[in-house]
This record gives sequence, C-alpha cells and structure tokens, in this order.
Amino acid sequence: MDQSITFTEKDQLKAKPESVQLGFGKYFTDYMFEMDYSLEKGWHDPRIAPYAPVALDPAAMIFHYGQEVFEGLKAYRAKDGRILLFRPEKNMKRMNQSCARLNIPKIDGKFVIKAIKKLVAIEKDWVPTEPGQSLYIRPFIIGTEPFLGVHPSGSYKLLVICSPVGSYFGRNTKPVKIYVEDEFVRAVKGGVGFAKTSGNYAASLRAQTKAEELGFDQVLWLDGVEHKYIEEVGSMNIFFKVDGEVWTPELDGSILPGITRDSVLELLKKWGVPVKEKKISVKKLFKKAEKQKLEEVFGTGTAAVISPVGFLKWEDRVVKVANGETGKLSKKLYETLTGIQNGTIKDDMGWTQEVVAASTSDAAAEPAGTPDVVSEAAVTE
Ligand code: COI
Repeated sequence: MDQSITFTEKDQLKAKPESVQLGFGKYFTDYMFEMDYSLEKGWHDPRIAPYAPVALDPAAMIFHYGQEVFEGLKAYRAKDGRILLFRPEKNMKRMNQSCARLNIPKIDGKFVIKAIKKLVAIEKDWVPTEPGQSLYIRPFIIGTEPFLGVHPSGSYKLLVICSPVGSYFGRNTKPVKIYVEDEFVRAVKGGVGFAKTSGNYAASLRAQTKAEELGFDQVLWLDGVEHKYIEEVGSMNIFFKVDGEVWTPELDGSILPGITRDSVLELLKKWGVPVKEKKISVKKLFKKAEKQKLEEVFGTGTAAVISPVGFLKWEDRVVKVANGETGKLSKKLYETLTGIQNGTIKDDMGWTQEVVAASTSDAAAEPAGTPDVVSEAAVTE
C-alpha cells in the first residue's frame, strides 16, 4: 500500500491525567488513525485526525454480527527519551490471522506499522514517564456495511486509538487471584479462540463477573470439550513452574497466540530453563500443587505484562502459590522483559523498534501546546 497519511491538527489539546490516575484504558489521547475499506477501492484514505466519536449507520454489521478484530501493543519511553515499540510486526501478523478467520480483508502490516509510528510520534507527550507505565495502542477493524443479512461486510473501518496506561490489574506487582471456571467455556477448536476478536471477550464476561463476585481477579479457562485441560486466563496466557520445569498450554487452535507468551518462551530457552508447551490437565496440576511441586504461576500479555498468580481456585480446592508472593522466575522475566521494552536492558533479541529518537523526544518534552506537525524525519522507520 503506497498512500500518504494525512494529518488534521486540532486547536486545543486535552489536559493529560496525572500518572497516579492512569489505571488501564480510561484515558485517550488527542488523535487517532483511521482508514476505510470498500470493495471498489480496497483500503484507502489513511488519515490521522482528532480523536472523536465514529458515526456509523445503526444497521452497520459490527452492531449485529460482531465482525471485528483487534490488537494491543505498547509504546515505551526509555530513560534517554527515546520511544520504543515492541515486536509490532507480530501484532500485524496476528491481526491478519484474525482477519482471515473473521472474513475481513487483509491489511498491509508494514503500512499500518508506519501509521502507528506516525501516530505515536505525534502523541509522544502522552507516553508516560513512570516505571511500569506505557502508551497502550489499540488497532481494530469493524464491519461497517449497513445490512442485516448474515454475510461478510462489504466495507470496513480500521482505527488505531491510544491510551496511557499503568498496571492492568491495578495491583502493581501484587500476585493476582485466579478462579478456574468449570461451567462456562471460552472456545473450542475450529472456533475463533485463536483470533483476537471481540466475541471471545463478550462471551467471557459472565464468568469474569462470577469470579469477581467470589473475590478473584480473573478466570482460568478449561478446554471446551472435556473441561479438563487448561487453556488461558481472561486477558493473558498462563505459565506454571512445576518441579523446576516451566509448562504452558500448547497452541492448539483455541488459545490466543500471545506475543508476550512467545517472548517468554524465547527468553526461557535462551536462559536454558526447561520449558514445555503441552496439554496440561487441571487435575494433575492441582495434585502437583498439593505435593508442593507447583513453584510459580504467572500470566503473560501485552496489557498484563508478567502477572504473578498467588492463588488458584478449582471446584472446592484452593492453592496458594509461592506463598502468595511473586516468585523468582516471574520477577526475573518481568524485569528482563520490561527492561528490554524500556531500553534499560540491551535488546539482544532485536525486539524493539525506535519510533522517536532521544534528541527528538527531548525536544518533544517541552510543555504541550499546539503539536508540531511531525515530519517524516522525526519518525524512525
Ligand atoms: C492485550 O494484552 O493487549 C489484550 O488485548 C488483552 C485485553 C483484553 C486487555
């Protein structure tokens, strides 16, 4: 796709929240990226414009049949002022896999990364400076054709919005409490479990509410057929350290192929930690826990980063993991991953991409006023 991205500047920028107020996904920046798709023109009219409500026909297909895919990635601010993205090409690859499953036309991943870099460069003053905080970037595509027959939409909109965020769970590094859901299921093989699509999350909400009512943070899903094998947690993949070995459920079509999951697997292999992607029976896991062999549990995700798990409940059994504290491996993974992401640890893996160079970013640290139009040169491609 070889089209130029237009930029419409707004007169008055928003006031930015204090860093202590951030939480997750509550505040949105000044601009968004948008482009449209039609059968005649393909993807067209890429633009960065002021963040604003989207006008859609009430018959638009997204409202009725949920034809949607989304992604989540983050921009991190390094100490020297550089702004970095983490493995954005992985998000684009996964977005196209989700598009294929949801019958949405493919995007040009390289072009969307270029648009994201341009948007983040314009929004550079929104990238938080505090440790553990970042600018969450949410690309998504919706079917926009006004039609009530069940068929793929003939038109789509891709949007990218940005939100300055802190910890997803609002607990910082305090371990989370997980409830193993044994009634509802999230996905089955052949379904859309591997795709990042809104329906998966809509279908999780009843169980999430149930878990919260019982005092837990999130649900751990079991397989949709036998209710025996562990799949993933509400907003993250899951890892177990059992008797010196790390286990995570294998990607079998019903589990989201997490980018943080993949990065953790690569780091563990690099460190020589024995790691297995396999079918994990919940019964066997609880047996291991009861024999004091379950050493650590942690979730992985872009939003969740590395979230240690302190408690697991399944039926009437509750296990306390690592004494309810953060385990050594979870801590090492958190520090290494966030260190690479925010530039304090040398990126030997080649995972980060610079969006704004240190000197440009310093200049950008001036008090927010009317934004400079970001020149192509200011964006490191
Ligand atoms: C992410 O980690 O980026 C996600 O999309 C999880 C989300 C449901 C908060």
